[in-house]
Amino acid sequence: MSLSITSLANIAIDLQNGITHQDRFARLIRTLRQLLGSDATALLRYEARQFRPLAIDGLAEDVLGRRFALDAHPRLEAIARAGDVVRFPAESELPDPYDGLIPHHSDLKVHACLGLPLFADQNLIGALTVDGMDPAQFDHFSDEELRLISVLAAGALNNALLMEQLENQTPAANAAPATGKTGGTEMVGLSAGIEQLKKEIEIVAGSDLNVLITGETGVGKELVARAIHSGSARAANPLVYLNCAALPESVAESELFGHVKGAFTGAIHHRIGKFEMADNGTLFLDEIGELPLTLQAKLLRVLQYGDIQRVGDDNSQRVNVRVLAATNRDLKQQVLAGQFRSDLFHRLSVFPVHVPPLRERGDDITLLAGFFCEQSRVKMGLKQVVLSDGARDLLRRYDWPGNIRELEHAIYRAIVLARAGHPEGELLLQPQHFQLADAELKSLPTAAKTHPLVDNLRTATDDFQRQIIIQALDANGGNWAATARQLQLDVANLHRLAKRLGVK
Ligand SMILES: Nc1ncnc2c1ncn2[C@@H]1O[C@H](COP(=O)(O)OP(=O)(O)OP(=O)(O)O)[C@@H](O)[C@H]1O
Ligand SMILES: [Mg+2]
Repeated sequence: MSLSITSLANIAIDLQNGITHQDRFARLIRTLRQLLGSDATALLRYEARQFRPLAIDGLAEDVLGRRFALDAHPRLEAIARAGDVVRFPAESELPDPYDGLIPHHSDLKVHACLGLPLFADQNLIGALTVDGMDPAQFDHFSDEELRLISVLAAGALNNALLMEQLENQTPAANAAPATGKTGGTEMVGLSAGIEQLKKEIEIVAGSDLNVLITGETGVGKELVARAIHSGSARAANPLVYLNCAALPESVAESELFGHVKGAFTGAIHHRIGKFEMADNGTLFLDEIGELPLTLQAKLLRVLQYGDIQRVGDDNSQRVNVRVLAATNRDLKQQVLAGQFRSDLFHRLSVFPVHVPPLRERGDDITLLAGFFCEQSRVKMGLKQVVLSDGARDLLRRYDWPGNIRELEHAIYRAIVLARAGHPEGELLLQPQHFQLADAELKSLPTAAKTHPLVDNLRTATDDFQRQIIIQALDANGGNWAATARQLQLDVANLHRLAKRLGVK
């Protein structure tokens, strides 16, 4: 045995000592690094056909935000399927999910890689991945020893999951992230602000109170609404969405409450409104601050008496609807300005939930960047999308007035730009791939903040031209002739230039 009983016992003791689960997991993989002499280690949670990193060591920080879908990662799929310790051959053709993500080792083509699946009662609950740069690095450990480690780690992970369930009192089925048609409701982030938000969501989800969700544009208010609904007793019933800003006053009442045939010109059929659609479920009123005053009065009535009246109908009917409302406006201010009814405001904001802006979430920026890199990588069929150190710093220094949505778009655009020069699909995102408004950058003692890491004039000029062409193409709906006109170029010249720059 190359592992001593003492070192194994140390793992077990370590796992009891952490203050938080996060802390315990971090200890576990640090110990593993010492024990196995690995270069990169990760503890992953398995749920809903994907692996989510819980703790990492020797890997780029943004890996914590990446979600590795089995379908997109054959190596992880092999681990999930194995039922026992997996030793990948050094020259394995299966792409490594961490390729490019082990700092100072950009190439993982030949290396040692172990996968240790973690089970609780026959169910796969997670995995440990262990990577080493030397192909023979783990040869002297026996399968038996590795199995012992798996068992210890599985026990620790399972305990943590059980504790979490007890604390949250959520049945196991609820603990898995709901993945609906509109994408998952997982809220990526480990910052204090997000932890707090998750707690509030849990408390309020079970309460059946109306909730007012506030926060700047793009912070994730809709995601919060979905999380509240799926954590509530109404989860099996519909969550109906209505955007109050996109609601012309003339049709608003009928949208909300429905109408009967002949109620007004054009009302040739009965039509049910959003309230009826949401019966026994949840109605999400987005941008509630834009709701016209006349409708505010009608909405208040429903909240007070629980019945609605279709337009043109003298009878009313009862509905059982929970209302979640969201706004990026200062509703209190609107109340003072006489634009929003104070009685409605008070009804809605029994339990206000505030979603913090991205710039107050610290390292979450990096996690979310990783999350969107991996998401876009899969969507766009790329081999690898890696953030350079410079890019990561830049993202951390930016103020993100458009919050997570802006970050998502920034990553996507950077990938499109970076891809232009790399048809093989292995991308390293550099600062120059991001076009972030200078005014929003926190000044750090970096020498050239407007031109970070410009290698030479030629690449900088190429990048700039590429960027302009892509933007113009975008603006002209992909039409080359219109793009050429806008850029005041001959079409043939534009085609040639685009080809040289790899835009085509
Ligand atoms: N914590 C998070 N983890 C992962 N994705 C997130 C997170 N928060 C927000 N997103 C994503 O960011 C985008 C914007 O979120 P969302 O639409 O919920 O914002 P919003 O607050 O409703 O914005 P607006 O005020 O403009 O309507 C969505 O694609 C959402 O899935
Ligand atoms: Mg929204």
